[in-house]
Amino acid sequence: MYLPICFVSFLLCALPTKALDAVDSSTNLRPRRPLPIPSEQDANLQPQKPGLSTTEEYHFVKRAHPANRPGINYNPDGSSFVWLQDDVYEGRNFFDSFDFFAFRDPTEGHVNYVNKSDAFAKRLAYVTDDNKVVMKTDSWTKLPLGTYRDSVRINTKKTYTTGLFIIDMDKAPWGCAVWPAFWSTGFNWPTEGEIDVLEGVHDNEHNQIAWHTTSGCEYDPAASFSGQIPNDNGVNRTNCDHAANSNAGCNVVEWSRASYGPYFEAQGGGVIAMKWDENDISIWSFFRAAIPRDIITGTPNPSLWGLPSARLLNTKCNISQMFAKHTVIFDITLCGAWAGNSYATTNCPGTCDQRLTEPSNFINSSWSINYLKTYKKVVLAGNLTQVNHGQPQSVISTLIATTITLLLTVSSLLALVL
Ligand SMILES: *[C@@H]1O[C@H](CO)[C@@H](O)[C@H](O)[C@H]1NC(C)=O
Ligand SMILES: *[C@@H]1O[C@H](CO)[C@@H](O)[C@H](O)[C@H]1NC(C)=O
Ligand SMILES: *[C@@H]1O[C@H](CO)[C@@H](O)[C@H](O)[C@H]1NC(C)=O
Ligand SMILES: *[C@@H]1O[C@H](CO)[C@@H](O)[C@H](O)[C@H]1NC(C)=O
Ligand SMILES: *[C@@H]1O[C@H](CO)[C@@H](O)[C@H](O)[C@H]1NC(C)=O
Repeated sequence: MYLPICFVSFLLCALPTKALDAVDSSTNLRPRRPLPIPSEQDANLQPQKPGLSTTEEYHFVKRAHPANRPGINYNPDGSSFVWLQDDVYEGRNFFDSFDFFAFRDPTEGHVNYVNKSDAFAKRLAYVTDDNKVVMKTDSWTKLPLGTYRDSVRINTKKTYTTGLFIIDMDKAPWGCAVWPAFWSTGFNWPTEGEIDVLEGVHDNEHNQIAWHTTSGCEYDPAASFSGQIPNDNGVNRTNCDHAANSNAGCNVVEWSRASYGPYFEAQGGGVIAMKWDENDISIWSFFRAAIPRDIITGTPNPSLWGLPSARLLNTKCNISQMFAKHTVIFDITLCGAWAGNSYATTNCPGTCDQRLTEPSNFINSSWSINYLKTYKKVVLAGNLTQVNHGQPQSVISTLIATTITLLLTVSSLLALVL
């Protein structure tokens, strides 16, 4: 609230001159989910759906392996579009495109976020020989009670307004006292909104997706999605306004027990996709064994992926107005506003601060990322539904396929030339 402009230029230009101002105004960037102290009931709000039946598993896998065809998608008005590759963050060059956030955690976590040189020197961030990008919490230094532990938070230098974001990871951090997130927000919080794609605490098994906005944005429960909207004492968390419900935001908890924590890791991780355009912001997650082929081949087609885990529709939320200019963020905080306040309601031993003292408690507090790819929406000329009422006939499909191939060729040629 005090110095948003200073903070914007501070982060964008990375001038490490006014650290104190940055700390103060950084609290504006993300007073993320200071939830009320969870009651006994809150601790059970994660749905414990049973595992998939064989038939469900079959349909899930079948749905996730659609025929590899050109990625035509449709807007509700019938106009057609494709998602074309924009940025690839992976391997050796991954960290070149990110800034390290080395300030006090705005969510009150008991961490020291280290700068880039410290992160590399202390091996809190590195790239393995087989190109896996690792970011972790210090898990080798014994600390006296009350001391903060070293950790990492980074954000893309580039900002995005809409896009398709696909991340492939082997591991996401988890464990008692651990609170990681893969999310995006604008430098002007909450005016530019916040999207929490992957977030959890302790040894939870269900990813909790969230949106935080200014007033006037609601999650429409009538949208098609597979997750569950949690509630506090009978009030469904559908109001995304940061000023409501102590900034809990509008939330959806994924149905899969493998969407966060030990089971996610045991599956070898997987792919999480976030699609953001003027129609909706939707999130899908796929076990490693069920990653759609169109994602693997780099021609993603969300219309083939079945129900998303969560979908914020534009029916009760003007997405173009509420979300803009997001930087994409990875962080691992410890204790703090969510993991600290909920610690006593878990099966974790002792207190959150006691947990911090012993390094081996944090061996699983690590990201291992294969890639983050972004795609941008390119609307195709012409109104395809005029001819075929929304169901492309084979002739039309061939025509479209040719157009796409041409488009992709032209764009790769352009990329070569430029
Ligand atoms: C990084 O942080 C360390 C420890 O706080 C400090 O000594 C060092 O000067 C910092 N480096 C840069 C480039 O800011
Ligand atoms: C909350 O969600 C549940 C389950 O979707 C629904 O049955 C209930 O009517 C909702 N309550 C309110 C107050 O909207
Ligand atoms: C949504 O917000 C955008 C940008 O502020 C505005 O141009 C548009 O008219 C709004 N749409 C609706 C349906 O209110
Ligand atoms: C780390 O993960 C392994 C494998 O799931 C588990 O056995 C171990 O208890 C975990 N340790 C901590 C400290 O979370
Ligand atoms: C496309 O054609 C359909 C059917 O004629 C029409 O209803 C729709 O408004 C058109 N959409 C656009 C974007 O022109």
